Amino acid sequence: MTESIAVSSGKGGVGKTTIAVNVALTLAKNGNKTLLLDADLGMANAHLVLGVNPEKTLDDFINKKTPISKISYKINKNLDFISGGSAVHSLLNLENTERYNIIKSFNEIKKTYDYMIIDIGAGADTSSISFMSAANKIITVLVSEPTSFADAYSLVKASYLDERLDNFGIVWNMSNNDFQAKNHFEKFSSISTKFLDIKLTYLGCVNNSKLIRQSILSRKPIIDNQNIKETVYFETICKNLKNLKSNKNKNIKFFEN
Ligand SMILES: Nc1ncnc2c1ncn2[C@@H]1O[C@H](COP(=O)(O)OP(=O)(O)OP(=O)(O)O)[C@@H](O)[C@H]1O
Ligand SMILES: [Mg+2]
Repeated sequence: MTESIAVSSGKGGVGKTTIAVNVALTLAKNGNKTLLLDADLGMANAHLVLGVNPEKTLDDFINKKTPISKISYKINKNLDFISGGSAVHSLLNLENTERYNIIKSFNEIKKTYDYMIIDIGAGADTSSISFMSAANKIITVLVSEPTSFADAYSLVKASYLDERLDNFGIVWNMSNNDFQAKNHFEKFSSISTKFLDIKLTYLGCVNNSKLIRQSILSRKPIIDNQNIKETVYFETICKNLKNLKSNKNKNIKFFEN
């Protein structure tokens, strides 16, 4: 079975793409066959973080009917990547049935991967929530800012009320230290679970790091450099993902139809 994991956030710019790319690279490095899907259809930019320029994108699948298996790009032995294309308008304004067709079409590559990591758009719009709902597990990324707290709360609330999603794995990004990240997570968790019947699981933090910022600028993912401490953040997140509960809502799921 392929475990599908959506990487979401309430507020934009908090590090979803950085985390999605590095988690996918870490899973692949540890021997898991992995697919990274860029489903941030308004501003697909995972290819920039990976430093690649795939010829085919999700746009070919939707507008030219190219099969899903033919639009993936090989990053390394264990990691394939499907790019979302650059600000393609037709992808932004997908109808529900088209989104349903995209999710269903992944059946074609059902037995190919151990994991699929999905980088989705920020916020609680229909497109983001339906991709979250189609994944087995959800990562939500927060940073220590009041706007990130408020927007993440709106996202978990909307996904719970609209789709009955009740398990979220939280990654705290750009924190000053591990203690601060855990402390802010506890605060966010106690407020959220007071009003909603949901469970938030702390997956780990990624502290503010010059090397991570530089790796994005130089388009060379940090995981490719084995000897730096930042790789430990992503190893921890991948380890904790195993204990994160799946969402069991009744909607259509990737690879399960
Ligand atoms: N842990 C970190 N330390 C330092 N800089 C970081 C860290 N994580 C992300 N960044 C920087 O923050 C910026 C935004 O990151 P990223 O593009 O991953 O966010 P995003 O949530 O995907 O944004 P969007 O909502 O636009 O898709 C990038 O310039 C990246 O270099
Ligand atoms: Mg992004």
